[in-house]
Amino acid sequence: MAKLAAKKTTRRREHERKPAGKSVRPQAARSQMKLFEEAAPAPAPEMAARPVKQAKPAKVPKTATPPRRETAESLASRQREISVSEFFTKNRHLLGFDNPAKALLTAIKEAVDNSLDACEEAGILPSLEVTIREVSEERYRIMVSDNGPGIVKQQIPKIFGTLLYGSKFHVLKQSRGQQGIGISAAGMYSQLTTGKPVKIISRTSKGKPAHVYEIQIDTRKNAPEVITEGVVDWPHEHGTSVEMELQASYKKGRRSVDDYIAQTALANPHAEVVYTDPKGEEFRYPRLAQELPREPVAIKPHPYGVELGVLMKMMKETRSRNLRGALQADFSRVSGKVADEIAGAAGLRAEARPKSLTPGEVERLFKAIPTIKIMSPPTNCLSPIGDVMILEGLGKAVPGCDFYTAVTRTPAVYRGNPFQIEAGLAYGGPLPGDELTDLWRFANRVPLQYQQAACAITRSAILNDWKNYGLQQARGAVPTAPMVLFVHMASAWVPFTSESKEAIASYPEIVKEIRLALQECGRRLGAWLRHRRRVEDAEKKRSYIEKYIPHIGIALREILGFTAKEEVKVVETLKDTLERSRAI
Ligand SMILES: Nc1ncnc2c1ncn2[C@@H]1O[C@H](COP(=O)(O)OP(=O)(O)OP(=O)(O)O)[C@@H](O)[C@H]1O
Ligand SMILES: [Mg+2]
Repeated sequence: MAKLAAKKTTRRREHERKPAGKSVRPQAARSQMKLFEEAAPAPAPEMAARPVKQAKPAKVPKTATPPRRETAESLASRQREISVSEFFTKNRHLLGFDNPAKALLTAIKEAVDNSLDACEEAGILPSLEVTIREVSEERYRIMVSDNGPGIVKQQIPKIFGTLLYGSKFHVLKQSRGQQGIGISAAGMYSQLTTGKPVKIISRTSKGKPAHVYEIQIDTRKNAPEVITEGVVDWPHEHGTSVEMELQASYKKGRRSVDDYIAQTALANPHAEVVYTDPKGEEFRYPRLAQELPREPVAIKPHPYGVELGVLMKMMKETRSRNLRGALQADFSRVSGKVADEIAGAAGLRAEARPKSLTPGEVERLFKAIPTIKIMSPPTNCLSPIGDVMILEGLGKAVPGCDFYTAVTRTPAVYRGNPFQIEAGLAYGGPLPGDELTDLWRFANRVPLQYQQAACAITRSAILNDWKNYGLQQARGAVPTAPMVLFVHMASAWVPFTSESKEAIASYPEIVKEIRLALQECGRRLGAWLRHRRRVEDAEKKRSYIEKYIPHIGIALREILGFTAKEEVKVVETLKDTLERSRAI
């Protein structure tokens, strides 16, 4: 009976179909239908003009393919440009806004990254304030303020109301931001989930007013909409404060904002951070280094990393009049001699006009580049944390451990981009021994909290054989040990696996460098563990001697009738002999 009813239902036309099950009331079903109708796009005029064909499906032979409803013209009527904001509104997971806990972290991270970048670029020791306030359940207001250079009034709307607008994308230099999408994406998420604008206060110097703006994004145009603008009294001489409300959730523990702030302080010892959590508890991270890190210098791309399409564009856009000049001026490490060698290997004249090179000729040039020996790119674009500061930071972040070490490797190159790996570890003390090692990953001093499995750092930590250093390690896992591992990659361009900048792509050169850094840390830990084991064994033996030798003395006195003096002498001799044999 049920089967029959089901069959009958399927024969009904689509709009007559009733929802199965008695629990759905007609009213509910109607409202569901309404929702469906609202969500469905309105039919294109061409579709509406052909109702007859659709009304007679029975005449179509069963084997024939159903008639297509679209024509090139009907498709053309719907084809239009998609704005980058519309794209990222639908794909907000690509930017790190895929769940409420992550959204809170990502929004704070974007603002903190910008504040630290801006302070460093302006040569100011950063002082940051981060506050989270709970507005209602699943709704938080965040505020990040800095003592940076501030933002010029006219730029404020564009920076916070346009996706892909920034100062760092076209520069090859180590910085936290790269893409020009971070803070506007956070604002867009805030607008999407609460309908509220982002509030910005910024002042560029003491004598100038502090401007306040409330900004939203017109996602169709990817352009800012200024809701309010004005001037306020602001206690800071210069700097920026960003405030937004978002649907989010706040959690403690791993991957929490609390963890992120602590790790940010560790990787930025020159920054001072005051963080207030939603419960109103204040955490202060004082400045550990009183000097700014070495300023990274912007570099030009290295020829080994260039891609064919980019090379073609560079040849079209160069200001140089000949090929030699173009290669020399637009790339790093290309001298006149090297440029001549490249041109020669490509069968081109070094005096040729770059703009008039044919695509075939540029391709020859592209193929010639790897055949010529070119010096590695300069590394003054990098600013590592340094092993001393890593050690100090680890000591503060995980206090009371038995062993700490840190390594800063010499710079290396992937795809023509210089990079440098640093690693460190804290072992023992209060850390739990029966859990997997806690892996702290950093890229350009930014802690990476999500997508651990997709990251080159995790891969390298897993590939490393930790058993060599006396630790337990299951296959495909980081070691099970009371340990925190720290890995930092500094680069003029970090190859993230997605726009949300959560994981580093596994280029073989990067994986190799990380492994070498971890191996060095591992070797040091292994040597220390072996030494500690020897000391413990020695202690154990010593305690046996202390415990049993006096009893042997007593037994000898009783059996051989020794005097008390003789007994003391025998005990001394035995102790001495055993101590010496233990030392051997
Ligand atoms: N607190 C700030 N102080 C000064 N300038 C800022 C501040 N925040 C943002 N900016 C400017 O706004 C630009 C855009 O910031 P946004 O976070 O959108 O992109 P980004 O930092 O360049 O790259 P990414 O998308 O990787 O974060 C920055 O490049 C910077 O020039
Ligand atoms: Mg940014």
